[in-house]
Amino acid sequence: MLVLGIETSCDETGAAVVEDGRKIRSNVLLSQVEQHAKFGGVVPELAARSHLEGILHVTGAALREAGVSLKEIGLVAATCGPGLIGGLLVGLSFAKALALGSSKPFCGVNHLEAHIYANFLAHPDLAPPLLCLTVSGGHTDLVYMEDHGKYRILGRTRDDAAGEAFDKVARVLGLGYPGGPYLEKAARQGKPGSPLIRTDSLAGTYDFSFSGLKTAVINRVHRYRQKNQELPVADLAATFQQQVVTILLERTFRAVDELGIKTVLLSGGVAANGELRKGFAREAAAREVRFFCPPLELCTDNAAMVAAAGYFHFQKSGPSPLDLPAFPRLSWKLQE
Ligand code: KG4
Ligand code: ZN
Repeated sequence: MLVLGIETSCDETGAAVVEDGRKIRSNVLLSQVEQHAKFGGVVPELAARSHLEGILHVTGAALREAGVSLKEIGLVAATCGPGLIGGLLVGLSFAKALALGSSKPFCGVNHLEAHIYANFLAHPDLAPPLLCLTVSGGHTDLVYMEDHGKYRILGRTRDDAAGEAFDKVARVLGLGYPGGPYLEKAARQGKPGSPLIRTDSLAGTYDFSFSGLKTAVINRVHRYRQKNQELPVADLAATFQQQVVTILLERTFRAVDELGIKTVLLSGGVAANGELRKGFAREAAAREVRFFCPPLELCTDNAAMVAAAGYFHFQKSGPSPLDLPAFPRLSWKLQE
């Protein structure tokens, strides 16, 4: 079955055609990054307007690149949450209209599930049960996936998401936007120093907290500025990155040990981070656990992962109703 996936939850307008939930036939992305960069973050209203302008062209390009017509599409899937409401409404309304007008089934997709399914596109024999750490701009969730559509949240962030912390620290250090990739690049030139925070207030739980780390960086920056000293940007970036990676590894691999997990995944934009990927590969190898992460271009938001998640959702639960709402704060449960 060919699935047309639509993604508009944040600042990327995406459309993709995926075959049987595993094989990418096309994956088109129109990024709004430059538009938002001058504001240092995504401006929701601008994002929604840009999705509206771009969605038709992006979808046309996805069908053309896949070499298929709308007639050959078996399912239209679109992100219904979580995300920015304006963008979600654009993608969802567009997908519903397309499905209705062409008499195809429609399926609403949870963006967080879609990030996990990015792994299924890259690794054809991957199957649940598995443990996945989803680290994006909005989420840091440690999730046990028992089966398709069946999730148990073990832990999540109590404050900032990992990606959000990367972005905020990058801004304080005067690096580019979005901060994650720029901070990683800066960190490569630096040396990690002593930890920014010595005590782990959530030790023993599977929850995360990053706001203390972020504040510690801000305080150090202020101290350097007050003393008129040059900011050791690369070293601060390396120190921050190392501590975030250490926390993410500690929680995930303690869960692997305690629950006897055999397959562990990374997903979400921060999964593009080289140090995090290396750390996961090392810890998984030490335990002879299978480890998968998406290729870099499938870590950050894209529509192929939405199409893949839509396929598996449809196989299990059938189509979504055409009056399905958008869910800006959707967690791991969908419409049931
Ligand atoms: O999954 P995603 O594209 O969007 C959301 O659903 O939020 O994640 C975007 C986040 C941003 O915070 C970005 O800075 C972060 O992923 N990110 C990275 C890297 N590449 C993207 N963080 C750390 N290192 C990277 N290489
Ligand atoms: Zn995302």
